[in-house]
Amino acid sequence: MEFVRLLLVFLHLLGMGLLLGMVMVQLKAGAAAPVNKGWLHGAALQLVTGMALMLLAPATDADYNHMKLGIKILVLVVIGGIAVFKINSATAPRWFTPTLGALVALNVGLAVFWA
Ligand code: HEM
Repeated sequence: MEFVRLLLVFLHLLGMGLLLGMVMVQLKAGAAAPVNKGWLHGAALQLVTGMALMLLAPATDADYNHMKLGIKILVLVVIGGIAVFKINSATAPRWFTPTLGALVALNVGLAVFWA
């Protein structure tokens, strides 16, 4: 089971990289560009891998801080919700990229600094 946990952490970290990469992609695309679908893929990957890590905790002998995980889920729901809400807009609003980038960074901070 340790391998399963490590595999999920591996995919979870790739998902984080994808979301942070989306900040660059969205900025490079310019102010007139629509919301890139990669935001949805990254958010979905984080939700699936994070929830799997959390739900498999009894089997992987992991002991997680449930308050922290609850807040991470909430932050991710906001990220995914904003992305879904804006995915069909002709152009991404100016606040879109900095807001989602800050929320992703917030979840990285919660993961790393909150034991
Ligand atoms: C934008 C969304 C997210 C980002 C950027 C993110 C980032 C991270 C990072 C960087 C780690 C590694 C921390 C370390 O090893 O010290 C981590 C671990 C973890 N995350 Fe997330 N996370 C996100 C969403 C979620 C969600 C929604 C859940 C679901 C509850 C979740 C559950 C977990 C768990 C359980 C671990 C610990 C894995 C382990 O070491 O066994 N994450 N996350």
